[in-house]
Amino acid sequence: MNLADNSVSARDLVVVYRTARGTVPALDHRSLEVEGGGSVAIMGPSGCGKSTLLGLLGGLARPTSGSVTIGGTEISSLAEKARIQFRRENLGMLYQQDNLMPHLTVEENVGLQLAIARPGEQPDGDVHALLERLGLAALADRLPDQLSGGQRQRAAIARAVIHLPAVILADEPTGSLDPDNAERAIDTLIDSQRKIGATLVLVTHDPKIAARADSIIALEQPIPNDAATDAD
Ligand SMILES: Nc1ncnc2c1ncn2[C@@H]1O[C@H](COP(=O)(O)OP(=O)(O)OP(=O)(O)O)[C@@H](O)[C@H]1O
Ligand SMILES: [Mg+2]
Repeated sequence: MNLADNSVSARDLVVVYRTARGTVPALDHRSLEVEGGGSVAIMGPSGCGKSTLLGLLGGLARPTSGSVTIGGTEISSLAEKARIQFRRENLGMLYQQDNLMPHLTVEENVGLQLAIARPGEQPDGDVHALLERLGLAALADRLPDQLSGGQRQRAAIARAVIHLPAVILADEPTGSLDPDNAERAIDTLIDSQRKIGATLVLVTHDPKIAARADSIIALEQPIPNDAATDAD
């Protein structure tokens, strides 16, 4: 799928989770615009909807109402199969835990991502060059449990950018790292993002990390419907 650009646009997003005990509002009419190649940090208290928002931008879920458009494609209206395909080709995802495949080496983890995004291409040269650039070349043949936390997260960054995604979505990617490794990982992430011209949406609790983005969006806790009624 060819994208018009790397822009990210969310319009008037509402998410209401339905649970056995009633409805939980997770996003209340949220909009967001990030221009192609730019970066934004999303901050806010636990439970304010940061991961929910990122999940919508990544096409992992659809909003109750509102729309998400990435590079001119309205992904929130794609059927599930098309959303999965869009995500594979155009998005790079990073989480608090690295989520590397434990039985695959660093090189195989990164190569697998490329094979999924661009089936049929010969990935070896690209994978080597990227691992070299990220200071991971000497670790290419190690399994994830033979790496430090910081090294694992840099391997996860390699996996998130190897297929040159239009957009990188990162949910507290440095949340499980000590400050030194967190800084190193964020340097690696932002350097990679700029080199490939991707747009970055980064959820973080750390103001120092957030300050590395072009702009910061602060989310607030949505007010539950019943509490709103009580307050009237
Ligand atoms: N699958 C679900 N079913 C019901 N409620 C959910 C579900 N996922 C999230 N929620 C609720 O939606 C709200 C937003 O959750 P979300 O995980 O997006 O918050 P967050 O800002 O990422 O929090 P944290 O900083 O702790 O990661 C919370 O009130 C949460 O309890
Ligand atoms: Mg979260």
